Amino acid sequence: MAQPQHPNLPLPDYFSKFAANYVRQTGRATLNILATVIKENIQKSAHPIGPDSVVHDTAAGPGIGAAALVASLPKEQLPKEILVSDNVAMMVSAARESLTASPLPHVECKELDSQNLSEVPDNHFTHSINNFSIFTFVRAGDAIRETYRTLQPGGLAVITCWRRFAPMFIVHGAQNKIRPDLPLMPTPSPEFYEEGVLQKVAEENGFSSAKIELAETVLLVDDEEDVAGLTSLMSGPMMARARQGYTEDEEAKWAESVRQSVKEEIEQFGGIRFEAYILLATK
Ligand SMILES: C[S@@+](CC[C@H](N)C(=O)[O-])C[C@H]1O[C@@H](n2cnc3c(N)ncnc32)[C@H](O)[C@@H]1O
Repeated sequence: MAQPQHPNLPLPDYFSKFAANYVRQTGRATLNILATVIKENIQKSAHPIGPDSVVHDTAAGPGIGAAALVASLPKEQLPKEILVSDNVAMMVSAARESLTASPLPHVECKELDSQNLSEVPDNHFTHSINNFSIFTFVRAGDAIRETYRTLQPGGLAVITCWRRFAPMFIVHGAQNKIRPDLPLMPTPSPEFYEEGVLQKVAEENGFSSAKIELAETVLLVDDEEDVAGLTSLMSGPMMARARQGYTEDEEAKWAESVRQSVKEEIEQFGGIRFEAYILLATK
């Protein structure tokens, strides 16, 4: 059965369509930021991941948390168990496929709703990762409550969200070049870009303010392949909503307009600039 998705995603079946090309078309941005967060924030915290850890990567897409763990930790520090879950079947099968040959000792890939993890007992995980998904949930508070419930006392939740989601600025720039009179493409739950909102939602749904730490990070995507992947996401059918109301002639200008906006972004920042909030919360 189709899962309810956030109404402001660019397409009703956005994440099913995205599954096959996810890593390329995100320019590995979510993967690379999480790999840095693991090294710089989680492993330097009071609760590093190690061989006794039991990790949940919730709303994992095609297994980004597991891939980031493998990319950032030596084999002997990998967790003994990881549950990789997402509520989109095609994301879960893409995760399963990409992790078959991974060095992780035990991986389970499962279709689960982050907002209702009733299959998972209380106090189960040592670590829960929620990487760049919170703003796509219809009920973000429920997802945090489930993260809190399923963490062991002393367990660590790691929740990231965008402070600056570069593709949205680039797409808006491309729209403004062709039809500045039409509405700009909406972004799901834009309140999460604001400082303090992620922390507030975490506090309202179980975590104590004294046990929350916040950090920020910047990723400049300048690798040619990654820039090409992001450009193809923004140029193609996944961003059809940005071209709503366009004539055929205007549609034909879209790819060039995106290329121009990408060029301007790189000239301004030296790469495609993503900024992110990182929340570490202990139960
Ligand atoms: C922007 S992607 C992030 C994926 C991955 N965590 C990463 O780091 O790239 C958001 C993911 O959240 C998933 N998602 C959205 N709502 C969900 C829900 N209620 N339960 C589980 N997954 C959900 C989508 O299917 C998608 O894979």
